[in-house]
Amino acid sequence: MKKISIAIDGPAAAGKSTIAKKVASNLGYTYIDTGAMYRCVAYYALAHKIDVHDQAAVEGMLKDVKITMTPEGRVLLNDEDVTLSIRENEVSMGASVVSSYPKVRNFLVSQQREMAKGGGVILDGRDIGTVVLPMAELKIYQVASVECRAKRRHKENLEKGIESDYEEIKKEIAQRDHNDMTRECSPLKKADDAIELDTSDMSIDEVVAHVMDLVYEKAN
Ligand code: DC
Repeated sequence: MKKISIAIDGPAAAGKSTIAKKVASNLGYTYIDTGAMYRCVAYYALAHKIDVHDQAAVEGMLKDVKITMTPEGRVLLNDEDVTLSIRENEVSMGASVVSSYPKVRNFLVSQQREMAKGGGVILDGRDIGTVVLPMAELKIYQVASVECRAKRRHKENLEKGIESDYEEIKKEIAQRDHNDMTRECSPLKKADDAIELDTSDMSIDEVVAHVMDLVYEKAN
């Protein structure tokens, strides 16, 4: 079976990374979480008291940002392990803001393309099928209703022992959807040749099995 490139795009908390990780593990592919890279930029700004809404300041600090994704799935920012801290709410909202800046996008997109060259990769994000890898052999646009995404995230938080407020989560997800879909530079949208997958009423195993079928179709 030939090694292909797989793009999974979709709105916040649609379960893209859960599916991408499982499919990558089944296939022995490299998984690249591009959202984590935007989160690193926001985290760096917050940690250095740089206002994420100050575009010039955020763009100016990029030269000091070195992101490493380890094969074990850890995220390093200038050699500090930020895997868990970039998941905090403030960082999620900040990532949605800094990702609207063209220089931030160019900075990260070129690194993502470099990591993806050679194939055998699965990337998830907002612009993978449209901008990062427009030639990807398989493109999935993964969606679920905002209620369903908020419910899943709320349950996940409670299971992890993280304090969680369903209504608050729903509001934040809706705000991020709005930011990500209406920004000028590379907004979230379905690529013309992407396959839309509504996972609202599907289990994780069902989604993985469906994506695996699509991979076999494309790679054989
Ligand atoms: O996938 P995520 O929730 O970890 O992404 C965090 C934010 O980063 C998201 O709100 C928008 C931005 N993002 C982006 O603009 N392009 C990507 N390829 C990935 C994420």
